[in-house]
Amino acid sequence: MTLQVRYIELLKNSLLNEPYLENEVRLLYIFTMLATQKKVDVDVVREIGRRLPDWVKQVRQARQEGRPWWTVTLTDASGSAQKINLRNVCEFSHTMVGRKRLDNITHCLDIVRTENVPGDLIETGVWRGGASILMRGYLAAWEMNDRKLWVADSFEGLPVPSLPQDEGWDFSASKEPILAIPLEEVQENFRLYNLLDDQVQFLKGWFCDTLPTAPIEKLAVLRLDGDLYESTMDGLNALYDKVSPGGFIIVDDYGDFEPCRRAITEFRQARNINDPIEVIDWAGAYWRKSR
Ligand SMILES: C[S@@+](CC[C@H](N)C(=O)[O-])C[C@H]1O[C@@H](n2cnc3c(N)ncnc32)[C@H](O)[C@@H]1O
Repeated sequence: MTLQVRYIELLKNSLLNEPYLENEVRLLYIFTMLATQKKVDVDVVREIGRRLPDWVKQVRQARQEGRPWWTVTLTDASGSAQKINLRNVCEFSHTMVGRKRLDNITHCLDIVRTENVPGDLIETGVWRGGASILMRGYLAAWEMNDRKLWVADSFEGLPVPSLPQDEGWDFSASKEPILAIPLEEVQENFRLYNLLDDQVQFLKGWFCDTLPTAPIEKLAVLRLDGDLYESTMDGLNALYDKVSPGGFIIVDDYGDFEPCRRAITEFRQARNINDPIEVIDWAGAYWRKSR
């Protein structure tokens, strides 16, 4: 394994919080005890890996695929089950994209690098910034200094749905505050990895306002992660034509959000795009632009 590959794999581990994953399980355990008004056992906290191996296993598994794992099912002595949703207190990695989708990013970048596909990289929808930080780290590792990374987000969460295609999918800040991460916090995360510099350009605002006028000439990777129909379509309309032949369109929510999948299907039909869609995992998919 070259030093570059070792660095990139270590970066993925860190972004997924894998070396310290047991701490997330510790918190999950403590909050579960609080929620059920039971006593926290300090020995369980200390020896979490041995005392709750199934929880640790489930969390590790979930992190591979970027799946939610914060709903704990507890069964009491009488056998009745209780579900506790602890999403907002036990979710600390710098990306919600799991390992498979991070591996997909570096797979695409390997091809961009070795086949010299021209253009910058962009992620539309970055949350805490993790997947974008991986892209910047990749550019640093391979000294690809002539490509910019564009980081586009409202930094205020998702918009309130305004199109009929998104009806019923309200993940805006008042409903899902966990999705609204301020710009300064994302920049701080880049800085923590020593990856905040002029090669990273932030586009703050709603995609419909920022993407059409962004000074982007060419893209090698367009990574769409805005969940909604509107957010996906705004990204495609503004940026698809800037993707170089041989470049990649990655869609984080193709498998898990119907509005996102619908935007992709309609856009591809309208533009007569037949490049095959490859499935990454339960949520992500991508295609390579042939022309
Ligand atoms: C699922 S999160 C992105 C996850 C991220 N890629 C990661 O690595 O964990 C969705 C992000 O898209 C942003 N977003 C969605 N629609 C948007 C829009 N129309 N304009 C600006 N930002 C949007 C939200 O603010 C949020 O940060």
